[in-house]
Amino acid sequence: MGSCRIEILTILSVLLLFFFQFQSIHGWGEDGHLIVCRIAQSRLTKRAEEVVENLLPKSAENDLGSVCSWADHVKFIYHWSSALHYIDTPDNLCNYQYERDCKDGNGEKGRCVAGAINNYTTQLLNYGKHSKYNLTQALLFLSHFMGDIHQPLHVGFTSDRGGNTIDVHWYTRKQNLHHVWDDNIIETAEERVYSSNVDDFIKAIQRNITTEWDDQVKQWETCSYNKITCPDIFASEGIKAACEVGIQRCNRRFSSRR
Ligand SMILES: *[C@@H]1O[C@H](CO)[C@@H](O)[C@H](O)[C@H]1NC(C)=O
Ligand SMILES: *[C@@H]1O[C@H](CO)[C@@H](O)[C@H](O)[C@H]1NC(C)=O
Ligand SMILES: *[C@@H]1O[C@H](CO)[C@@H](O)[C@H](O)[C@H]1NC(C)=O
Repeated sequence: MGSCRIEILTILSVLLLFFFQFQSIHGWGEDGHLIVCRIAQSRLTKRAEEVVENLLPKSAENDLGSVCSWADHVKFIYHWSSALHYIDTPDNLCNYQYERDCKDGNGEKGRCVAGAINNYTTQLLNYGKHSKYNLTQALLFLSHFMGDIHQPLHVGFTSDRGGNTIDVHWYTRKQNLHHVWDDNIIETAEERVYSSNVDDFIKAIQRNITTEWDDQVKQWETCSYNKITCPDIFASEGIKAACEVGIQRCNRRFSSRR
């Protein structure tokens, strides 16, 4: 137990680091997604800014962050979309391959968060032309999935369902590891460091993007081979990060107890 606890703490601190390292960030609860989308919206090109403004529902008042959890809320109405939030990779392998891993529970190819990012990016590239798709939904899905794919446990091991079956304690509360990573870490940081003010949290991250991490931004923004989007790279980074901080060892210890 002792050593697993330490491993979890390590995971958490690495996560915080990881979280702050990326501009268009991880798979998360309400606030995580809101933060990702507010930062993303503030960095759009003029043209993209206009398109986003046009596509957003009126009720969002041009705040992408306010509707970034929409995809979580519709999972239960659009059952087909729930497999699009994550990727299951083979247990303990610690790597990801589109061909092998991007599928849903029925084995249907391309139905995972990386496939969905490709899908909704392609739909949005047709903005202005006739599209059979609802591009407001495409925008809301894409913004949400760009968050999810950067949460390492959304590209996780199959048998523990991305940490959902791993029980841990977050301070005094019993939680599963996936939930801790999606919500608790962010909420606790927000409460303790930013007096529960999400705008201050966002400002602090943005300040780092323009100072500390400035030299990395170009790399975050570009995909190799002039590709428009590169979800396979994000997914590979996620599973690698999760493994490096010891989910694998921790997981093994937990599963031997089940
Ligand atoms: C692509 O988008 C359409 C429209 O939302 C959806 O019906 C389809 O399931 C999506 N496929 C993937 C892999 O995202
Ligand atoms: C597109 O989807 C949004 C969000 O679900 C919905 O409010 C809107 O009515 C849809 N637009 C059309 C033309 O169906
Ligand atoms: C900003 O960067 C510094 C130095 O790397 C780090 O200590 C701090 O936690 C970062 N703050 C945020 C909000 O990312």
